[in-house]
Amino acid sequence: MKLPEQKRALNLATHAARAAGRLMRANQFETKQVDAASQHDIKLALDARAQNEIEEMLADAYPDIPLLGEEGVHGDPAAAIRWVVDPIDGTVNFTYGIPHACVSIALQQKAENPGEADYEDGYQTLVGVVYDPFCGEMWTAVRGEPTRLNGKEVRVSNRKKMNEAIVSIGFAKSRENLEAMLPYFNELVHRVRKIRMMGAAALALAYVATGRFDAYIERGIRLWDIAAGGLILECAGGRFEHKAVPGEHAYKMIASNGVLHRGLRAPL
Ligand code: IPD
Repeated sequence: MKLPEQKRALNLATHAARAAGRLMRANQFETKQVDAASQHDIKLALDARAQNEIEEMLADAYPDIPLLGEEGVHGDPAAAIRWVVDPIDGTVNFTYGIPHACVSIALQQKAENPGEADYEDGYQTLVGVVYDPFCGEMWTAVRGEPTRLNGKEVRVSNRKKMNEAIVSIGFAKSRENLEAMLPYFNELVHRVRKIRMMGAAALALAYVATGRFDAYIERGIRLWDIAAGGLILECAGGRFEHKAVPGEHAYKMIASNGVLHRGLRAPL
């Protein structure tokens, strides 16, 4: 897909993200219908509603582009081009009325050469949008261009000292991932200024891209949580390292301002 078309897709994705964001805000203080719940995870009826809204808007403009979303797949997810969508990232926060959640929309294409792919499944991200409807913050990125927050260019921090860093950690849903991260947490907490656990991975990546956090680390994360935020981080000068792990579209990842990457000594 050529650059002008990518920009058109980006513009559309921002509109779709705003529509889903309006739905989130309209329901912020309502009791939410829980469709499924496990110890560390919740699925709301609103997750599916928000994805439908996004899907309709994207399919209206691009009827042939399939969508791989947290709430289900539409079309062939292995097509040459695909949308990757998390309609509400931070669902647990949102359910409990904590206004820290976002919409994440990415457009990915299969790389021509495997060496150019961002992900092990052969895709690279062309366009990324992360929208926080509670703070009114919209991050946008098009591959090869600078990241913008509400239209203004942003960059990662240039913090060089671990003892001044703010590092965010995501505790994923499975017991195995939790247990793997706890010893690391115990070690890291003594070396950094603060650890933060905010509960929305896509927003955490956008915060690293903006220099608010210096790094974000999580195991057992899914593609729809990281596809848009990963591009947003890289276009802001950050480093995004990830590896596929067993599970559908599952990864472990370290995101940083680049300078502090090695010093994190995170288990990847
Ligand atoms: C989750 C959030 C959370 C992260 C989980 C994600 P969801 O996304 O981003 O911060 O720790 O791994 O699955 O389920 O709220 O869209």
